Amino acid sequence: MRRLENKIALVTGAGAGIGRAIAETFAREGGHVLVTDVDGEAAREVADAIVMSNGAASAHTLDVADTAQVKALMDEVKEVHGRLDVLVNNAGVGARTDFRHMSDEDWNKVWQVNLDGTVRCAREAFDLMRTSGNASVINLSSVMSVKHTRQMAVYSATKGAVSALSRSLAVEYAAYGIRVNTLLPGYVETALIGRFLSNPMIAKALLTQTPLRRFGQPEDIANAALFLASDEAAYITGAALNVDGGMGTTL
Ligand SMILES: NC(=O)c1ccc[n+]([C@@H]2O[C@H](COP(=O)([O-])OP(=O)(O)OC[C@H]3O[C@@H](n4cnc5c(N)ncnc54)[C@H](O)[C@@H]3O)[C@@H](O)[C@H]2O)c1
Repeated sequence: MRRLENKIALVTGAGAGIGRAIAETFAREGGHVLVTDVDGEAAREVADAIVMSNGAASAHTLDVADTAQVKALMDEVKEVHGRLDVLVNNAGVGARTDFRHMSDEDWNKVWQVNLDGTVRCAREAFDLMRTSGNASVINLSSVMSVKHTRQMAVYSATKGAVSALSRSLAVEYAAYGIRVNTLLPGYVETALIGRFLSNPMIAKALLTQTPLRRFGQPEDIANAALFLASDEAAYITGAALNVDGGMGTTL
């Protein structure tokens, strides 16, 4: 039996990178995946690719920074599926700016997606996940929530908040049969950090911080998400799992 057979899974930011790999992995394991992204075209392309490989998926345009859109999508999920078994809060944006030059607007933009997007989806999906009775929420934090470098203050702060929120929700949602866990990726080769990794000097420096001496691939994160989403993780909630080649444990 496949590990997500008959499970309804919603992944945010699934049009590219880590979210795409999670959507494809979940579908391969028998899940029906709601592929959502602010870029509706990208979501459509991923859902089509899944269906072409005999998986089950539907595409949805979803900006996690927009409460009305999140509510509308959850209403649609209720009508079509009646419940939600897995929610992956993956949508996230980066920002590399000197802290002292950040305007309120720049600061808020990152929070609106990285933390508030996670808050909105976890809140609005609650009734659907309670109906599941055996649901799993996976939130994407980052090693940058515990290890720090210059110009990353807003990103690090949002990811630290995502980790703290996850632990709180794990406690609050446990009574409803909903587990909540967090993934902390290290450097993963996606568009988010592609600009840095394509600079050989920077890439070399980043690799020296990574004991396994390679960058992560989106599939590395997807495999960890699959475990947390599956019934094999039935006794795991409130956990934070580093998927970082050991980077989070170095000095
Ligand atoms: N790549 C890394 O090294 C790394 C490391 C640690 C954590 N993460 C986290 O993993 C998650 C995925 O990162 P990635 O590297 O795949 O990024 P990515 O930039 O490759 O893909 C992000 C996807 O999210 C979508 N998105 C952006 N804003 C959105 C919004 N408001 N609503 C819905 N979708 C939106 C984008 O359209 C894109 O498809 C993020 O939360 C990121 O912070 C990534």
